[in-house]
Amino acid sequence: MTPQGLFDDALSAVKAWHAALQPEHAFCPWPDDLRYEPRAPRSLPATELIRVAPGRTTPLSTPVVEAFQALSPHLEWRLTYTQDEVGRHFLNNYGWFELAGPEGHFITHQTRITVGYWGPGLDYPRHQHRAEELYTVLSGSALFKADGVPDRILKAEDTCLHLSDQPHAMMTHDSPILTLVFWRGEGLADAPALSAA
Ligand SMILES: [Fe+2]
Repeated sequence: MTPQGLFDDALSAVKAWHAALQPEHAFCPWPDDLRYEPRAPRSLPATELIRVAPGRTTPLSTPVVEAFQALSPHLEWRLTYTQDEVGRHFLNNYGWFELAGPEGHFITHQTRITVGYWGPGLDYPRHQHRAEELYTVLSGSALFKADGVPDRILKAEDTCLHLSDQPHAMMTHDSPILTLVFWRGEGLADAPALSAA
């Protein structure tokens, strides 16, 4: 299959996931301006990690995870954070890509859909951003923390909403986690900033 065929398959799997889960389609409508944009692949440790160790899935999330595993060598994987901010171990076990959005593999200006992978034993520091985001877990699990709400352990099909500029953090323990994140509001293309202590 061509890379574009793999991207189309992954987008269809994500669209079905979005339609099947109430928090997801309540958060944002499925965008109607999606346009495939060829992008050079960028390989990171996460390229292989999501293929060999995605963590526990559910019947509903399995097709999405498998689509991303097939797509992984064609993805423009990104890191955003620096070694000074998060450490080398974090960067060796983490990666994300923008499936759809202002700078995604599919261009849309209506929302942003990103995918993030964290290996076991990582401490994702407290950070924030202007756009609101809805984390949805595809596989594995992690402890989610956000200012003003109790800590929660999330697993596949669970969701977590972060409001505009609400500081939040995440810790993985024995399991990795693969997340699909929907974004809305102002600042869709902004990078997150680590929060003040
Ligand atoms: Fe975030």
